[in-house]
Amino acid sequence: MSARFIDLRSDTATCPTPAMREAMLRAEVGDDLLGEDPTVNALLERAADIFGKEAALFVPSGTQANQIAIKAYTQPGDEVVADAKCHPFRSEAGAPSVISGIQFAFVPADRGVFSRREAEAALRPAGGLGPRTALLWMENTHNAGGGQVFPLERMEELRALSLERGIPLHMDGARIFNAAAASGVPPREWGARCDSLSFCLSKGLGCPVGSVLAGSRVFIGKAQRIRKILGGGWRQAGILAAAGLYALEHNVGRLAEDHANAERFAELTSGIPGVRHVFPTTPTNIVFLDVAESGRTAEDVNARLMERGAALSVFGRTTMRAVTHLDVSRKEVEEAARALAEALA
Ligand SMILES: Cc1ncc(COP(=O)(O)O)c(C=O)c1O
Repeated sequence: MSARFIDLRSDTATCPTPAMREAMLRAEVGDDLLGEDPTVNALLERAADIFGKEAALFVPSGTQANQIAIKAYTQPGDEVVADAKCHPFRSEAGAPSVISGIQFAFVPADRGVFSRREAEAALRPAGGLGPRTALLWMENTHNAGGGQVFPLERMEELRALSLERGIPLHMDGARIFNAAAASGVPPREWGARCDSLSFCLSKGLGCPVGSVLAGSRVFIGKAQRIRKILGGGWRQAGILAAAGLYALEHNVGRLAEDHANAERFAELTSGIPGVRHVFPTTPTNIVFLDVAESGRTAEDVNARLMERGAALSVFGRTTMRAVTHLDVSRKEVEEAARALAEALA
């Protein structure tokens, strides 16, 4: 059971169902730091297979997955080419500079999507006095880009660039299963076009904790050491991996429902006076609204909305984000849209 209100703040709001808890209860466990947890190992085998990668690593959060990936590929002073609204730059407490001492080179992007030409322009020439470009970074789906899917053809171009220049390509696929559901492109196709990737179990897939990194054996070997450095070398994590296995089995196939609910929310809120949709389309499960024309701030609107039994997240002074997930039904999404209209009346 989730919230006492209709919680559209994030898909991280999902809580484990009785059936998922049952799977967790039954999990066989061992010491994952020693590679001896059978349930973790089963999850990693499954994840590596889904994305066509050699190996995988179970980590506590999407943030840790991102930070491990950045650290594995870079040295202090290196540059990571990414869009300026990527999660590790925008929402990870400055961790890339704290943990890896890197800086970002930003690529102009449309909802997180950029072209090979744009990425190429951000690469540093070899042998100059500038920093070394060590990593190409993309996010799929793009959170701040309103759940935008990174088109596979664009990724293909980036892959070609990465191979030609010998610069690894990493995909933050926190919501890659949403991208796969919306585009019909199977996870393995995305996996084939990057050196490594991560995905989150604790967002739309409904687990209480956990993300997975996948890549080559060498990359995962480095990642294991960095996870330990970051204090993420957990032990009987099988109890959490069991939730992950359950989610991969039962909760991937239903993501299209969340997308349809987000579309419905967008439809119902588009006619509310004072509300403007930040993005013209709702590709997956995220909708961004701007309430500037109502004369109220996002904080104020959200407080009024909460009095009426629903909540979005506040993203900027007048911008708000709604994220649909398995703990909100079609009916609740419709109720939340009605509550928003009342909050703005
Ligand atoms: C694209 C993306 N990457 C990484 C993360 C970080 O995940 P976590 O909250 O598990 O640290 C998020 C969280 O919302 C995200 O949207």
